[in-house]
Amino acid sequence: MMIYRPRRNRTSNSIRRLVRENHLTTNDLIAPLFVIEGENKSIAIDSMPGQLRLSIDLLVKEVQELWSLGIPCVSLFPALDDSIKDKYATESYNDDGLFQRAIRAVKKACPDMLIMTDVAMDPYSSDGHDGVVSDNNEILNDETLEILAKMSVSQAKAGSDIIGPSDMMDGRVGYIRDALDDAGFYNTIIMSYTAKYASAFYGPFRDALDSAPKSGDKKTYQMDFSNKREALRETILDEQEGADILMVKPGLSYLDIISDMRSNTTLPIAAYNVSGEYAMVKAASEKGWIDGEAVMMEMLMSFKRAGCDMILTYFAKEAAKVLNR
Ligand code: PBG
Repeated sequence: MMIYRPRRNRTSNSIRRLVRENHLTTNDLIAPLFVIEGENKSIAIDSMPGQLRLSIDLLVKEVQELWSLGIPCVSLFPALDDSIKDKYATESYNDDGLFQRAIRAVKKACPDMLIMTDVAMDPYSSDGHDGVVSDNNEILNDETLEILAKMSVSQAKAGSDIIGPSDMMDGRVGYIRDALDDAGFYNTIIMSYTAKYASAFYGPFRDALDSAPKSGDKKTYQMDFSNKREALRETILDEQEGADILMVKPGLSYLDIISDMRSNTTLPIAAYNVSGEYAMVKAASEKGWIDGEAVMMEMLMSFKRAGCDMILTYFAKEAAKVLNR
């Protein structure tokens, strides 16, 4: 006699619905968006099919559509002309810069949409690094903190709700928290890129922003992908420094890290389903080798199953449409 038949709980769609352990909703999704100068301008990103760099007017429309689909948060990135980049990323804290104007426009048009903004020097740096590069090519930690703090306050002033430091400098969460509080932005949330790995999965994103390092790589600040315990050390530090939400990045190859962090923190956890992960699904799907939509939904659920509360994903709009069906 066979007593245990796990298949009983899989016999119909209704029982599967009843025993389902994890759920994905539009409330879980954060949509990354790229902004450029100009008017009525939209430039495709070849390595990210379906993703666009948008001028502020079109960005605002896109955000309104995402809001109507039920998405509560967007994460903005500026794509700047090389001529505006310099060694110290000074454009990053120009209160009238492209990024700050974009934040203000989005906030005005769609006040309830949460705006998350990336904090790191690379989109503004002539060196293409997240920190200040010294004469002997060292990435200078403490000199960078000052710039990150100015950038964060400038973004908060423009209307950013969530500051997302993606630079991996030591001590930056605490340093930015102090700067925000000093400027009166004690309610501005910090979503720290807690465990951000030095990854080849960021390739298409660097195409989108033309932000690849001019020399060297990011391995002296982003984490070694062989390491797991180190993510828990970063978790403890970010908690102590006052982070409100912790992020793991990339996502797919790092579900073990998410799961580990879930058991070791009470803070909400986000995954960044990065550009290379998006590109792989799109490419295979265009070739007809996989069912792109089914793979997208399976992939997004894997983040929930691993323990994530939210997912930054270029699939946000597409997934929201499926979920709203
Ligand atoms: C900037 C930043 C990067 C990404 C998000 N913020 C690139 C990098 O660190 O080189 C990558 C996102 C993606 O690949 O989708 N520091």
